[in-house]
Order: sequence, then structure tokens, then C-alpha cells
Amino acid sequence: MSVTSARDVRLSLDGDVNYFTGRPYSDRFKKILAKRKELAVYDRMAAFYEMFDRNQVCLYVGETGSGKTTQIPQFVCYSDQPHLKGKMIACTQPRRIAATSVAKRVADEMDLPLGKEVGYSIRFEDVTTPDCTFLKYMTDGMLLREAMADPTLSRYSTIILDEVHERTLATDILMALLKQLIKQRADLRLIIMSATLDARKFQTYFSLEEGALVPLLKVPGRTHPVEVFYTEEGQEDYVEAAIRVVLTIHRSERPGDILVFLTGEEEIEDACRKIHQEIEFLFSHKETASSIGPLTCLPLYSSLPPQQQQRIFDAAPEPRTHGGPPGRKVIVATNIAETSLTIDGIVYVVDPGFSKQKVYNPRIRVESLIVTPISQASARQRAGRAGRTRPGKCFRLYPEHVFTRELEVQTPPEILRSNLGNTVLELAKLGVKDLVKFDYVDSPAPETLMRALELLYYLEALDSGFNLTPLGTVMAQFPLDPQFATLLIESPKFGCSNEVLTIVAMLSVPNVWMRPVHRQKEADRAKWLLSLPGGDHLTLLNAYNQYRQNINDNKWAWNNFLSKRNLAKADNVRLQLQRIMERNDIPLLTNFSDPESEVQLHENIRRTLLTGFFTQVAHWDPEKKAYLTVKDMQPVQLHPSCDLEGKPDFVVFNEFVLTTTPYIRTVSAVEPEWLLKEAPKFYDISSWPESPMREVLKRASKRLNRKTKQGAAA
Ligand code: CDP
Ligand code: MG
Repeated sequence: MSVTSARDVRLSLDGDVNYFTGRPYSDRFKKILAKRKELAVYDRMAAFYEMFDRNQVCLYVGETGSGKTTQIPQFVCYSDQPHLKGKMIACTQPRRIAATSVAKRVADEMDLPLGKEVGYSIRFEDVTTPDCTFLKYMTDGMLLREAMADPTLSRYSTIILDEVHERTLATDILMALLKQLIKQRADLRLIIMSATLDARKFQTYFSLEEGALVPLLKVPGRTHPVEVFYTEEGQEDYVEAAIRVVLTIHRSERPGDILVFLTGEEEIEDACRKIHQEIEFLFSHKETASSIGPLTCLPLYSSLPPQQQQRIFDAAPEPRTHGGPPGRKVIVATNIAETSLTIDGIVYVVDPGFSKQKVYNPRIRVESLIVTPISQASARQRAGRAGRTRPGKCFRLYPEHVFTRELEVQTPPEILRSNLGNTVLELAKLGVKDLVKFDYVDSPAPETLMRALELLYYLEALDSGFNLTPLGTVMAQFPLDPQFATLLIESPKFGCSNEVLTIVAMLSVPNVWMRPVHRQKEADRAKWLLSLPGGDHLTLLNAYNQYRQNINDNKWAWNNFLSKRNLAKADNVRLQLQRIMERNDIPLLTNFSDPESEVQLHENIRRTLLTGFFTQVAHWDPEKKAYLTVKDMQPVQLHPSCDLEGKPDFVVFNEFVLTTTPYIRTVSAVEPEWLLKEAPKFYDISSWPESPMREVLKRASKRLNRKTKQGAAA
């Protein structure tokens, strides 16, 4: 096996023409190249080719920011020569934002326009060109979807699984699939990349021979020491505490940017606003105005618009006067900034020690995001972000004994914390027969697998022998949870597929309702004006329809406290889902278009919801003053954002929010008879244990029988 010559690659890069296009390099190319040459990964190019060219599978471990994600795929391009040989290179990322931003960066580095030779693919957004793109950054979920259509991933010569330490569900499943695939395809190569990793585990896992290890290249980063500080006690309000620390750093520490880790969009926006206010306050006072420098505070979370995301790479603000105190940049981020994105110039890290994590409780069948203490491994990664440019400081807002005694060593892999409905459907589509014996890196709990199989059986995606049904095959074509796919498939029977398609699209994009902190009353009123009786789903439909009707009015969304960007996203998602429906001959129709039949239309839409979400139903218990989820009897409350008149006896919900009180969100009223009619398998109450809910359903069943008989008699 000949090894690609790192010397030749360097010569080519230092030359005048682009190796991949034959076009002359731009001036900008040379400037970026100088930066690339400073990266630890670039330095080890020859060592990389030594390993990569001689092995089918290898592991590459290197500090965050050392250049793995941007450089390694480019190195592979020189070896695989995709522009000549016609095969592609894929590099997966667990996060959409990492895939898009790195693709942009690498296109710049290679002096190519984004979307041509270098592109990206994330759910509902494909920025690639057929027959041209040869390096594709993509979310791990998208590669898994490609594997469903092309199980041998025949378009690729090399697949790079990046950020493997995140252990997302999709990455875990991909690892298992690729392990099988490399046995079938001797020409396919695989690189497993990560920042921190229990390397041994993966060296053993991917080894095809007993006792052998897959080769590993470990590239130490060029990091500086980071001093870690702890607080004496835990914090009651960690957001408030983080803001205090930021202001103290700004007033008393040497120049250098600050990175703060919080858990989600709302918290982050709130913190940014408060930091700005405090700075304004300091500037408005003579005593402090001249002694502190300007400060820019920027949010960073996944649903942030791309232009705003890009701003995190801008330099800190200039001093306000010549020779005045230097400016500082503060970035308030989710754990995206932990390893997925590297921001240069960070010297201080503020770490309250929390992140939002998925948890799944198979007993009550609910998955939700909860603010949870991070692991020691995460805390170390976060601290490491402070030492990229020079020695830094990390302020942990919890006591040291919490770190040593209470934090878990590693964050458990997502496969142990997720609802597996979608995954099991994907595996079934991939032809995996025995889900229990499947070669997982870490096996999921049997109970979780059972729940997934049970759901797919009720949805009729699997038959009683757990084989994929024709319906399941159609379901698997949609890049959606199987419940949502079911709604689209069933909706024509109810004469409302146009409407249900809109609702599914609206639920597939980030929240469209805006509720700025200082204008909540106005926002709530605007939402109330758009709401329809029956619940949140119909209100979402109405909001979308009104948006479309007012599409020429640029201010309409803003005036109605709706996010124009997310509505436009919903529009785009709707179109993509519509195409999949058309391909599968699922008709798009609205059978009740005249105003008199609107009530019937709305009822049918709510009935359709039950064809997919029959397990997500709750029943009002007047004694307990709570809703109880069906079958599992978990008490829940309606989320304050819910738009329902009174307390209907039965509701269907889309989301379960676990805070101190469990809430259900995105809720519509339904009737007990509908449950029996639209989901008879699940609501076969003869097998249910005694409960008040069962009594209600029994009575509903009698009413339904009577009606059916009357109908038959007439
Ligand atoms: O993957 P890894 O964490 O090892 O590093 P990387 O993502 O390849 O980033 C290497 C360097 O590229 C960073 O330190 C940044 O200087 C630069 N970079 C950038 O400027 N813009 C991006 N969107 C990504 C990386
Ligand atoms: Mg990376």
C-alpha cells in the first residue's frame, strides 16, 4: 500500500494552483493557510498518512481546537482523490451547527465555494451539488438516513465519524453499522475521531480480530495551563451567579475573552440582556465609566440564525478611546462550545456545571430534556477552552467536593437515555433482525427496546413477528419520529392532509411564538388573537395560514409576535415533507373547505393526532386536580403556554416537560370515543387494570357501540 506523501501535499498547498480544480489560488487562501500551519494536526500530517493509508479503520484523538474536524477530511481528500475517482468523503457531526459552520470554514480553507465541492447536509437542509460535492459534512443522523436508502454507503470511499465522545444515538448506531460494513466493503475506510475518548474501548470494538487493537494516533494539543477555581458553596441561582462572575472578571482581570456555559436559549438570551444592562449602568456612572473597557456579549445556541452564529468569531471590541481600557468579548453558550466549536481568544471560562440532557423513562414512556449536572469529563473539556491562546482561568460555580464526589465521571451515552422508537424503525429498515443481539457499543436497556417495539407494533410499522410492514417502510422514509410520520400517512383518510402537513411542519421547527421578557402581555394577547378553540395544534395551523395570507406584509410576523425565520423554516420543511408524501402517493387534500364544515375539519384534525400520539394522552382527574397520563397514571399539569379553554376531560399532547412539576405542552382536546376508534389496539381496555380512566373508556365504548348499531340500523 503506498502512503500519500505529506511532502507532496505541502508542496501542492504552497504552490499556485488548486489541486482539486486546477484554478489559481486566491490571496485569501494563502492567509488562511498560514493559520492552518499553526495547528497541531497539520504538523502531524505525515504521521496521519502513515496510519490512514495502511489501515482500514483508525482512531484519531486530539485536543479540541487542534484541527481535527477542519484538517483531517482535507488530508483524506489528497489520499482518496475524490475529484478523480468519483467517490465521496463524509465527516459526521453530532450537531447541526458544527456541520454547517465547519463546512463553511473548510470551503474557505480549500478556496472553494460552499455547496460545490465542499458541502453539508443536515435535516431539511442539503447544501451539496450532485456529481460535484466530494467532501460532505453532515449530521450523524443524516448519514444514518443515507444508510437506510443505500446500506453499503456505496458513494463513499472514507467515512469520518467525528466527536465520537459525545456518544449520540445516531453515532452509536453508525458505529455498529460501519463495523459490519467494513467486513463487506474492503475499499471503505473509516476514521473515528474525538477530543477525549476511552480509546481502548473503541480500539477493541472496531478490531476484526480477537485481541487485536485498531491503530490510534494521539495528537497532544498546544494548550496552556488553566487554573481552576471553585466556589465555597453551591449557587441558588446559577445564571445570576454567572453574570456576577463575568462582571468581576471584566472589572478586575487582565484582557482576554470570556466563555460562559448555560443550558438553553432562554437562559442565554436573558443572561446576555442582563450583562448588557449592567455594562450600560457602569458606563453611565462617572466613577466606573473611564476605568472599564467596552464589552460585547454574544449568545450561542443551536437555533441561532447563521449570521449571528458567525459573529462569535469576530474580534473583541476596540477600546473606547485611544489607550483606554481594552475591550472584551463574552460568549454565552450551550455545551455546543464544549467541543464542537472552537472560539479562539478565550482566556476565562465560567462554568455553572449544568447542561440540558435528554432523559427517557420507559415506565411512563416519556422523553424530555432536563437541566442536569454535567460530568467530570465535560467540566474538564469546558475548562480546557480557557487555555487555547495563553494560560487561562476557569471559574466553577460549585464547590470542589461536588466535582470530586457528586459529578459522574462520564456522561452516559444517549442510547441509554433515549426513546428508541425512531432508532428501532431505522434498524428494522436497515434489515437488523435481532435487536437484542445487535452489536451495540453499549446496549440499551431491554425495557427501552421493548417500549420501542411495542410502539411500532401499535403504529403497525412492525407486525407481530416484529418484521417491517409496508406501512413501516413508508414511515421510515420520513425524517420524522414514527408518530409524526403516521399522522401524515393517516391524514388523507380524515380529509385533512393539507392541514396535518402544516401542523407537522410547524412542530418540526424551533418555537414560532416569540415572548420577549419585557413584552409578555402583548405577546400573549397576540397569540390569543390567533388561537382557535380546540387547542394548540389548531392554533399553530391558524398561525401558519395567516402568515401565508399576509406573506407580502413584511411586518406581519413581527407585529404578531411570531418568528418570521422559524415560519419560513416551517414553510420549507412543509415543502420537503410534501415531496415525500407525493413520492409515496399520499394525497394532499382538504375535504371541508366551506365555512360550515370548518367544525368538522377541526374535529378531524384532532382525531388524526390520535392515530400517532395515542400513547400521549392524559385524562383530567378532578380529585387529584391534575391530568393523569393514560395507562401509566403519571400526574401532569398543562404548561402555562397551553391554549385550551377550561379543562377538557381528555387531551393529546406532544411534549412532556420535566421541571419541578411535570408539564405537558402543545395540547389539544380529544374525546374518549375517538381514542377507541382511532387507536383500537392500544385502547383495547379489556386488558387494562381497574382504574377510573378505564371506567370512563368503558362507558365511551358502550356509547360508541350504540352509535355504530344505530348507524347500521339507519
Ligand atoms: O476539531 P477540532 O476541535 O480539533 O478543531 P477544528 O474545529 O478543526 O478547529 C481548528 C481551528 O480552525 C480553530 O482553532 C479555529 O481557529 C479554526 N476554525 C475557524 O476559524 N472557524 C470555524 N468555523 C472552525 C474552525
Ligand atoms: Mg472538531
